[in-house]
Amino acid sequence: MIQVRMHECLICLLILRTPLWQLFLVLLMAFSIDGQIRYSIPEEMKKGSIIGNVAQDLGLDLSRLRSGRARIVSGESNQYTELKADKGILVVNEKIDREQLCGEVTPCSFSFEIILENPIELHRVTVEILDVNDHAPTFKNKSINLEISESATTGSHFDLESAYDPDAGIYSLQNYVLSPNDHFVLKQHSNADGVKFPVMILQKSLDRELNPHVSLKLIAVDGGTPQRSGTVNIEINVLDANDNPPKFSQLVYKAVVMENAPIGTYITTVNASDADSGSDGLVTYSFSNVKRNFAFVIDSFSGRITVVGSIDYEKDKKFEIRVIAKDQGGLTDATKVTIDVLDANDNAPVISIMSFSNTVSEDAPPGTTVGVFNVKDADSDRNGQIKCSVESNFPFKIQSSLTDYYNLLLDSYLDRETTPEYNITITAMDHGSPLLSSSAVLYLKVSDVNDNPPIFENPNYSAVIIENNNPGLSVFSMSARDSDRNQNAKISYFLEDTVVGGSPVSSYVSINSESGVIQAVRSFDYEQIKQLVFTVRAQDGGSPPLSSNATVKILIHDQNDNPPQVLYPVQTGGSMVAEMVPRSADVGYLVTKVVAVDVDSGQNAWLSYKLQKATDRALFEVG
Ligand SMILES: *[C@@H]1O[C@H](CO)[C@@H](O)[C@H](O)[C@H]1NC(C)=O
Ligand SMILES: *[C@@H]1O[C@H](CO)[C@@H](O)[C@H](O)[C@H]1NC(C)=O
Repeated sequence: MIQVRMHECLICLLILRTPLWQLFLVLLMAFSIDGQIRYSIPEEMKKGSIIGNVAQDLGLDLSRLRSGRARIVSGESNQYTELKADKGILVVNEKIDREQLCGEVTPCSFSFEIILENPIELHRVTVEILDVNDHAPTFKNKSINLEISESATTGSHFDLESAYDPDAGIYSLQNYVLSPNDHFVLKQHSNADGVKFPVMILQKSLDRELNPHVSLKLIAVDGGTPQRSGTVNIEINVLDANDNPPKFSQLVYKAVVMENAPIGTYITTVNASDADSGSDGLVTYSFSNVKRNFAFVIDSFSGRITVVGSIDYEKDKKFEIRVIAKDQGGLTDATKVTIDVLDANDNAPVISIMSFSNTVSEDAPPGTTVGVFNVKDADSDRNGQIKCSVESNFPFKIQSSLTDYYNLLLDSYLDRETTPEYNITITAMDHGSPLLSSSAVLYLKVSDVNDNPPIFENPNYSAVIIENNNPGLSVFSMSARDSDRNQNAKISYFLEDTVVGGSPVSSYVSINSESGVIQAVRSFDYEQIKQLVFTVRAQDGGSPPLSSNATVKILIHDQNDNPPQVLYPVQTGGSMVAEMVPRSADVGYLVTKVVAVDVDSGQNAWLSYKLQKATDRALFEVG
C-alpha cells in the first residue's frame, strides 16, 4: 500500500559559518505540495550539511524509519544526498553545482523517493538548488577588433559580442557598461528569453586624421553582491573608406530540427546584402552568443547554418541564435534565428523495481501488493506516455499510484497446489512511433497454507484375519495423501475410539501412526468375534490440522479348531453306555441316535459318523 502524507509547512533557519552573502540564502524551507516534500538549499553546500529533517517533515518516528528500512530510491541525482536514517535527516553527500546539474534550466531541482517497507510507503522529496553567484560573466575573446570608416554616419550601430554567465536569475549577466569616450554610446537589446546584447551606436563622427585608433573597454556585470564582472577590449581602426552597412533580408529566421539530427544536417541560410561593391560589399557571418560545444555552426561566407553537435530534445527544446553580419568596413547588422527541436522517440521506458516480496502466501487476498516499481521515459508527450502491463492469464494486475509509480497487485486468489511459482513479466510501453518498450521479470514463489485435508486412497478398507493368529500380526497398511507441503502434508494415523463386543477397539488392533500399518494386538477367536468395524483418522501437521476418515472392516475367518462333541448318548466317566436290543429285532431296527455338535462354522462344522470299534462289524451300522 502506498501512503502519501500531507503535513504542514515549516521553515527552519540554519545558521552556518558561511560568508555574509550566503547567510541570506541559508534559509531552508520545507513544505509539501500534493504529497511531496520540497527543500530549497543553496548550491555548493559542504558534504554533511543538513538539507532537512525528513522524519519530522513526514511525521514518522525514528523507529518506523528503522523498521521500514527507509532508504532513497530512484533518483537520477541521488548521489547528491544521503538519508541518515538513524537521525531522520537528509544531508548533502556531494557538493552540488547548480550550473553543472541544470545548465540554463531554472528553477533547478531534482527529485527522488524515500521508500519504507512493512507496509510499503513512498514519499517524494524534491530538492531545489538555489543559485549562488559563483561565476563571473566572461567574453569569448580577449578583444574585439573593429574597422570603422571615418565616413560612418552618426547613428550607425555596431553589434558586439555578448558575454556569458552560467548563473541564473539575478546572478546572471545583467548589464553592459562601455568605458567613457567621445564617440560611442552603448545600447542594450534583449531577446524574449531575457538574454542581453550590447550594441554600440556612433554618436560623434570619427576622424582618422585626428585619431586613427580608438581603444575602449566593454564591461559585463552580473547582479550579485558583490558584483562579478568580465571585460573585453574593443580596438577600433578608423578607415578612410566610404561604406554602406549590410542588411539582413529577414528580422527573424525560423527553422526546425529533429533531435539526434546527424552532423551536417542543414538548418537554414541567413543572408545580408550590402550595397557596396567589391571587397567592401563582402559580408561575413558569425554567431554572437555561443556556448561551449554549441550544436550549430555558421559558414562565415555563405551564412549556411548546419548541425555540428548532438541535439537532445530532453535538454533543449528550442534554440535562439543571434547572427551578426559584418562587412569589410566594420559595419554590422544582426538577425535572430530560432530553431525548434522536435522530439524523437529515442528513449525506451526504464523500469526500476523499488520493492518486491519474493514470496506470497496462497491465502493472500486479491488486492495484496506484491511489488512497487517505477517507470521513467525521458521523451515527451506521446513518446513519453507509458502503459504498463502484465501477462493477462496471470492473477496479477498493475495499478498506478504516484506519478511514474506502479503497484503490482494480486488480482485473484492463488493456489500453490496448481501453480507454485510465477515468472511475472512486467512490460512498459510508450506511445511513440516506433513504439519502444522494456520489460522486467519477477520471480514470485507462492508459500503453502494448510488448505488440503489428507485423502485416503479408498474410503473403505476390508481385510481378513484367520483366527488363532499371532498377536502382533500385521494385517494391512492404510495410506492417505496430502497435496500441501512439508508439515502441512505430514500425515499421522489414529484409531477412532469405538467399542467392539464390550471392549475398546484398541484392545483388538493398533495402527502405527506414521506408517499406517494395522496390527492385531491379540489372537482372535472366530467363535467369539466374527468381524471388527472401526474408523481410522488421517490428520496432517498443519495448524490447525485437517483430517479425514476411512472405515475399516476386518473379517475373522474360521479355523477347524474345535472337535465335534457327542451330546447323546451322555457319557459318564469312562463307562460304556448300554443299549438294550430285543432278540427279535429286525434288520434296520433303530438302536439309538448319536447326537454330536461342532462349534466351528461351515465345513468345519459338518459332521459325519462311523463306527470305530465293534465286536461284530456285521451286526450294526451307523448313518
Ligand atoms: C522461472 O524462471 C526461472 C529462472 O529462469 C526458471 O528456473 C523457472 O523454471 C521458471 N519458472 C516458471 C514457472 O516458469
Ligand atoms: C471422523 O470420525 C469422527 C468419529 O466418528 C468424527 O467425530 C469426525 O467428525 C470425523 N471426521 C471427518 C472429517 O469426517
